[in-house]
Amino acid sequence: MAARAPLAPPERPHTGAKLQIRHVTKTFAAPEGGEEVVALHNVSIDAGGGEFICLLGPSGCGKTTLLNLVAGFLEPTNGEVLVDRQPITGPGYDRGVVFQDYALFPWLTVRENVEFGPRVLGLPKGERAAVADQYLALVGLADFARRYPHELSGGMKQRVGIARALANHPSILLMDEPFGALDAMTRETMQDELLALTSQDPKLVVFVTHSVLEAVFLADRTIVMSARPGRVIADIRIDLPHPRDRTAPDLTAHVRDIRAMLTPQLRSGGHE
Ligand SMILES: Nc1ncnc2c1ncn2[C@@H]1O[C@H](COP(=O)(O)OP(=O)(O)O)[C@@H](O)[C@H]1O
Ligand SMILES: [Mg+2]
Repeated sequence: MAARAPLAPPERPHTGAKLQIRHVTKTFAAPEGGEEVVALHNVSIDAGGGEFICLLGPSGCGKTTLLNLVAGFLEPTNGEVLVDRQPITGPGYDRGVVFQDYALFPWLTVRENVEFGPRVLGLPKGERAAVADQYLALVGLADFARRYPHELSGGMKQRVGIARALANHPSILLMDEPFGALDAMTRETMQDELLALTSQDPKLVVFVTHSVLEAVFLADRTIVMSARPGRVIADIRIDLPHPRDRTAPDLTAHVRDIRAMLTPQLRSGGHE
């Protein structure tokens, strides 16, 4: 992999906001003639202090729905979601989102993609170029600023997605299976890089994954959800120092315990 520029401190460091998800139920209206879908049932999660939280659960258990509620793209049917004690009223630049499918603007260069948020926020041209370059350097893509997304590998696209989210100085970073489409080697590299980034620029991270190993490798806390309707069935603190060894016995013990919790959920969900 290309050598990475030294990690620079962010302009406005955050230790991360306080997130309170309180008794959240989310129901989707019935498709024509069908039954309504209860995606989430009575989910409560409190997080903050720069925690790295991983959400694990069977396909269709409402993980993306939960992230979308925190992002402000959806409203809860019941319950509430608070950031720093304020109810969420819609999307905001205090919450950065990284999607699995990158969701980059294909007609914009890498730098323009990263500048997008700062431009909407009204940062003058020189400043927003500086912010974009700072975050591109942080993710090791300083030399690719003028390229277009289609010229990049999957891992590089996702680095742009991360730089784009971080360029707005969010206090919460929401990541929905961001490395799910990457090959195993790239995925491990991206995990290492993400931990380096978030230790330099602390913020609350809510990271959805299908991979128990990924969750245990990254997380301070792993939250395990049931099959739909999604409920929290376990909230496990992963008290292992970094850098972690993916093959260490204490790490693999967590992986085994969490897999044992998930297996019955995968069966009852019948989704995978
Ligand atoms: N906009 C929507 N309209 C109707 N049903 C939805 C919508 N979004 C999600 N769902 C349903 O809610 C459930 C949870 O979906 P999702 O949050 O995407 O699960 P996950 O990310 O855990 O796989 C699924 O049954 C899905 O089909
Ligand atoms: Mg999903």
